[in-house]
Amino acid sequence: MAEIVIIYTSETGMTKQYAKWISKELDSDCLVLEEVKAEEFLHADLIVFGAGIRAGRMRKLKSFHSKMNKSGWSGPVVYFATGGAPYDEQTVRAIVANSFHSSETSSVPFHYFESGLNFEKMKIRSRAIMRVYKMIMDGKKEKSEAAMGTRQALNGSYDHSSPDYIRPLIKDVHKRINV
Ligand SMILES: Cc1cc2nc3c(=O)[nH]c(=O)nc-3n(C[C@H](O)[C@H](O)[C@H](O)COP(=O)(O)O)c2cc1C
Repeated sequence: MAEIVIIYTSETGMTKQYAKWISKELDSDCLVLEEVKAEEFLHADLIVFGAGIRAGRMRKLKSFHSKMNKSGWSGPVVYFATGGAPYDEQTVRAIVANSFHSSETSSVPFHYFESGLNFEKMKIRSRAIMRVYKMIMDGKKEKSEAAMGTRQALNGSYDHSSPDYIRPLIKDVHKRINV
């Protein structure tokens, strides 16, 4: 049977929750990027890597790729990212374009899952950034649904995560390992 390993990084627990749901569904190890050792993933046939979105791009991709390169592992990777914004094809396209090299954007296996915001668990720096962002958004006169939604979202913690959202990723992984 093919071996799948989930590697994730998570600041406030949102990405961790999705990583746990995925690992349960795929019956695979679930490891933290900052702690994982090469011997824990070198045997994998496929790695699923997940991180949160920061200012429109996936966090810690460089760090993940550097760890993989140093270990000599070069198998297939399926990526997922979690973010406070609702799923929207245009938003997802923009995240892929901001996160990956232009030569990869049309082919990279990427899945986006809506999560939320957890101000209580954010690091001080993140909370400060969010405060500034909220001030900027509050100062804008824009009344579009998206702008109103963003303003509303910045008012406090919320969690729209759902295990239902991981279905396309599970299907994608199964297809790639020929289940
Ligand atoms: C400083 C900061 C910037 C963020 N930028 C975005 C963003 O551009 N788009 C988005 O959808 N979510 C954004 N978020 C929300 C996070 O992506 C979301 O909470 C994510 O699930 C966090 O995952 P983690 O805490 O497990 O790392 C941002 C959060 C912070 C703290």
